[in-house]
Amino acid sequence: MTSMLVDNIALLVTNDALHGSLTAERSAAAVVIEHGLVAWVGDAVDAPAADERIDADGRCVIPGFVDSHSHLVFAGDRADEFEHRMTGQAYAAGGIRRTVAATRAATDADLLANAGRLVAEMRAQGTTTVEIKSGYGLSVADEERSVAIARRLTAETTYLGAHVVPPEFTDDPAGYVELVTGEMLAACAPHARWIDVFCETGAFDEDQARAILRAGQAVGLGARMHAGQLGVSGGVRLAVELGAASVDHCTFLADADVDALAAGDTVATLLPGVEFSTRQPYPDARRLIDAGVTVAIATDCNPGSSFTSSMPFCIAVAVRDLRMSPAEALWAATAGGARSLWRDDVGVIAVGKRADLVLLDAPSYVHLAYRPGVPLVHRVITG
Ligand code: NIG
Ligand code: FE
Repeated sequence: MTSMLVDNIALLVTNDALHGSLTAERSAAAVVIEHGLVAWVGDAVDAPAADERIDADGRCVIPGFVDSHSHLVFAGDRADEFEHRMTGQAYAAGGIRRTVAATRAATDADLLANAGRLVAEMRAQGTTTVEIKSGYGLSVADEERSVAIARRLTAETTYLGAHVVPPEFTDDPAGYVELVTGEMLAACAPHARWIDVFCETGAFDEDQARAILRAGQAVGLGARMHAGQLGVSGGVRLAVELGAASVDHCTFLADADVDALAAGDTVATLLPGVEFSTRQPYPDARRLIDAGVTVAIATDCNPGSSFTSSMPFCIAVAVRDLRMSPAEALWAATAGGARSLWRDDVGVIAVGKRADLVLLDAPSYVHLAYRPGVPLVHRVITG
């Protein structure tokens, strides 16, 4: 039996709801890990002996980031689109089809290598749990292999056959919805935990989104939703109505959407890398938090709208531009992400939970936003 003591922690963020405040911080703390789980949390002076000791040397220790929204299974990139956007062109979701063409042409090995490289980037920046979606295959075989490749990298896999209607179905969107809810779902469900749909003008409307999510729920998948990225739609309320775990983007919201989110259990996941990279207006995090909505932050890492793998970057933008406090942003990037994945074993440092810890080269997590772009992740401990 090997136990490990992480000692000499200047500031420990536990997110342990038992201890009151949002981030439930402790100073001069220590943590003991056994069998990949947290076995003890307390004051450093009371720390029990362990087989191994890591000296945090006055650093801040936080739970590993939970990145609850990413699209990592793809080939190629779209740097040219980004370049054009930065000189004035608007974001067009039509670019998704370019990545679909590149992804279909790639080998399984190339797709796995690319996704694996991005997961490694995330890990180096403190992410210890990541959700990965399909959605650039859009045929039965290409969606199936996309979810299967994602499954090799994470347990949090999402089937997003309903990303956009692929070119060969342009004249028959209803036929595509039938495929997504039929043969494609049957092929992908064994590899997936979640089903997602992009409910937006130019992608899928509310009736289609309802049919797609219900079909997934009927075979045991949890529901997630992309909505409110480009304009107000009924997608947000639909997500709440269907009991979706999360509705993501939430950049454009009607008052009724905020009321529905506040009354329901669906997490609002904000993706500030998207607005940063598309020059759209940022979502109104204060309006959501002040209404009592549970907010998560994720990267949405994808080659079109947000090609960042960095949760620290997203936290910095959330603090500066979404006006979240550093504590709110850190909670949203850890415990909030966990909530959006219906997980209670991650995003928190408490006895019995997974031992996913990040040691920061800083005395406080405030530095994540205060020192944007600086690699502050000193060490990542996972399980
Ligand atoms: O979450 N909104 C739809 N899907 C992605 C964008 C994908 C792309 O542009 O390739 C998103 O932003
Ligand atoms: Fe997305």
